[in-house]
Amino acid sequence: MNHKGESMGKYPDRETAEELLREAEGRNPGPWGNHSRTAAHCAEAIARYGGMNPDKAYVLGLLHDIGRRFGKRHLGHVSDGYSYMMSLGYDDAARICLTHSFNQKDIDGYVGRFDTSEEETELIRTKLAEAVFDDYDRLIQLCDAISGAEGVMDIIDRMSDVKRRYGDYDPGKWNANLALKEYFEQKMGKDLYEAVEKDSFHPDMTVYRCGDSDWLLSEDAYEIYAACMYQPTFGRYTAKMKEFLSDSAVGIYVCEKDGIRAGILVLDCSGEAPEIVGIAVSESCRGCGIGQYLVRRVMQAEHVRCISAQTDDDAIGFYRKCGFRDEKTTEEYQNGTVVRYHCTLTSEATHGA
Ligand SMILES: [Fe+2]
Repeated sequence: MNHKGESMGKYPDRETAEELLREAEGRNPGPWGNHSRTAAHCAEAIARYGGMNPDKAYVLGLLHDIGRRFGKRHLGHVSDGYSYMMSLGYDDAARICLTHSFNQKDIDGYVGRFDTSEEETELIRTKLAEAVFDDYDRLIQLCDAISGAEGVMDIIDRMSDVKRRYGDYDPGKWNANLALKEYFEQKMGKDLYEAVEKDSFHPDMTVYRCGDSDWLLSEDAYEIYAACMYQPTFGRYTAKMKEFLSDSAVGIYVCEKDGIRAGILVLDCSGEAPEIVGIAVSESCRGCGIGQYLVRRVMQAEHVRCISAQTDDDAIGFYRKCGFRDEKTTEEYQNGTVVRYHCTLTSEATHGA
C-alpha cells in the first residue's frame, strides 16, 4: 500500500519531491531548479482547472528535469532522470523525465546537443516508442515550454529564447507546443496565462501558515514585524505574538524568499471579512513584491473572496499597489488630526493586478 505509493501512482509525495529537487540542486546548482518550480506551479494550476490530479501534476513538474542532478548535460539529462527515478521506484516520474522533451514523440526533434552514449540514446528511443502519451505527458511538455527560472513566460518568448541559446528550434516542436497550449486552454475553459497567474508567480518565494512559535517569538521575526507596529519594542512584540498564537481565529503567514523568511502577514478571521492585522517585509527584501505576494497567496490558500485592512498615510501606497480600494476617515484629537484608511480587496480585483 505505502511502498512507493503503489496504489496511488508511482511518484513521490510533494515533500519528498521538493527534497529530491533541493538535494539535486545542491549537486548541480543552476537556474533549472527554479525553472522546475515554475513548471510544478503551472502544472498544478492547469491540472486543477482541467480536472486532473493537481498533486500528481505538481510532483511531475517538479521532477521532470531531475536528471540535471548528474551534471550539465543536454539530451543526457533525459536518460539520467529516467534511470534515476526508475531506480527509486518512481516509474511515473521517470516517464515524464523521458517524455517532457519530445512533444512529437521523436528523438530527432530534440533541441540541444546529443551528448548521450549509444546505450542511453537507445534507451530513450525504445522507451519513447513504447510510450503512449497521456495528459500528464502533454501537461509537462507544455509547462516546460512556458517555465523560466524567474517565473512564467510567454510561450513564444520562451521558445524564441531557447532558439537564441541553441541556435535552432524544430518548427514541428514549436507548432506542437502551440497546439498543446490550445488543447489545455480548451480543457480548462480558461486562458493559459490567467490560469497559471503568469505575471504574479515567483518561483523563489513560498508562502505558508507558520506555526513555528520559537521563530515567531525570536528577534529575527521581531525585526521584520516591527516595521508595522506602533512604537515597537521586543517586549510588546512578543506579548502581541503570543496573543496571536493562542487565538485560533488568527492566522500567521510567512513568506520565504530563496529559503529565507522575509515577510510576515497576520490575518484575523473572526469578523465577516478577514482582516490584515499586520504585514511587514524585512528591510533588505523590500521592493521585490513580497508583500503583494503574501496578500495574494493568503487569499488563495484561505479561499478568501474579500480581505480588509486598516492603515494610515505611511502604508496606504502599499495597499493601493496591491489593488485595495480605500475609504479615508479623519478623526480630530486634541493634538492633531488622525487619518485612517479602511481598505478592501476582492479576489476578482487581484486578477491581472
Ligand atoms: Fe524543463
